[in-house]
Amino acid sequence: MTKQSKPESALVEITGLSHGGEGVGRIDSTAVFVPHAIPGDVGEVEIVHRRKNYFLGRLVNLKQSSPERIDPPCPHAPACGGCQLQHMSYAGQVSWKRLQVEEALRRIGGLEVEVAPVLRMSAPIHYRSRAQLPLGGSPGQVTMGFFRRGTHEIVDMQECMVQHPLMVKLAQAVRRTIADLRLPPYDEVRHRGIFRHAVIKASFSDETLMLVLVTRTESIPLQEEIVERLRREVPELVSIAHNINPTVTNVVYGERTKVIWGEPYIYEQIGGMRYAISPRSFFQVNPQQTKALYDEVRRLANLSGGELVLDLYCGTGTIGLYLAKRAGRIVGVETIPDAVSDAKYNAAINRVSSAEFIQGQAEAVVPDLVRRMGEIDVAIVDPPRKGCEEAVLKALAQADVGRIIYVSCNPATLARDLAYLRERGYTPGRVQPVDMFPWTSHVESVVLLSRRS
Ligand SMILES: C[S@@+](CC[C@H](N)C(=O)[O-])C[C@H]1O[C@@H](n2cnc3c(N)ncnc32)[C@H](O)[C@@H]1O
Repeated sequence: MTKQSKPESALVEITGLSHGGEGVGRIDSTAVFVPHAIPGDVGEVEIVHRRKNYFLGRLVNLKQSSPERIDPPCPHAPACGGCQLQHMSYAGQVSWKRLQVEEALRRIGGLEVEVAPVLRMSAPIHYRSRAQLPLGGSPGQVTMGFFRRGTHEIVDMQECMVQHPLMVKLAQAVRRTIADLRLPPYDEVRHRGIFRHAVIKASFSDETLMLVLVTRTESIPLQEEIVERLRREVPELVSIAHNINPTVTNVVYGERTKVIWGEPYIYEQIGGMRYAISPRSFFQVNPQQTKALYDEVRRLANLSGGELVLDLYCGTGTIGLYLAKRAGRIVGVETIPDAVSDAKYNAAINRVSSAEFIQGQAEAVVPDLVRRMGEIDVAIVDPPRKGCEEAVLKALAQADVGRIIYVSCNPATLARDLAYLRERGYTPGRVQPVDMFPWTSHVESVVLLSRRS
């Protein structure tokens, strides 16, 4: 069949999953990406969009189900864009995630590295500690929840199987309060109304909650009444902050945040450490798996007490501080100034005096830093999805850092960076994927690279 006469629909066997969680099959020799389809499914797929090198399809008639196919446990699954793998068994999800890491390492990095079975959750529900919920609708008829997959239409969330139940309770109370007081939610199209987002954070260890109300306006009408009602309905709420975002943008937060009631922080206990979480700081969203991840980093670091450890992309200093009791000195680097202040505060509340934190972009700070620091025993890198800038990896290799521990949330950039480091004398060991985000297509990995002597 010629390219011009491609069928509008075809019988497709799904043989893979994309990193976004769509099933991947072929029509003739062209790849087709099919949401809600998983490997082992066979079905009629309608072509929705034709791109230059691939198609986007829609599963219209499932003829044969994958052995891993299940009924989505969440009633919002078909509409909600939050979880992509609701129709796949948990065992299927984790074996696919392992495969995804293996494939990326081989295909992108040209690396034949052992990938361990995924460190999975024993009960993969109610694991999330943070939610960003857009508000919409009209005064008295407030909708609040998630954007429908690929749109800006708000799906009204009544329950959520991945968030901590207290967060859902608070979300319901926020929606009810704003509706009862007949206050206007934000209207994205006309850039009117007030309430844009409710960001909710939970401490699993303390069973406490923080709420950040993001508004278009400088002030919150009936603020005292809102605070009073929420406190009464949700006694676990200990902190309410207000963020002002007056601009026409998809970005959730504006520049200004102030605490309007209660504590400036909530605290999460991970292992023996206690970490402060502020309205704007980054904190891993799955506390149980964060412990599994940090324990793995600590095991790989294999510290004996006197080592000099670099913690790059350190956020609020959590990984470095987790290792501090077994290290000589920790130096963290992070670009966000608030995160750096939180890192210093975290060091203080955990009585760690051997840690220091530098604000700046790793690629700007590290080359000079490693020259000044002398012999570095261990460097931990935990970059965002785009991976490490070459300047960072180059500087670590030139400084002859003994061991590098790479924590990654993106197998593709992990593969690229491991290949780069291998060229410069580092051998990657066994890669350990950790499932931080069950029911979604995301996978975290950690790996130790050792200097070849
Ligand atoms: C995946 S988070 C890791 C945070 C921390 N290690 C943890 O476990 O919570 C990545 C962090 O890198 C920071 N970051 C992003 N780009 C950076 C850069 N160029 N230099 C330094 N830090 C950066 C982000 O602000 C964020 O805190």
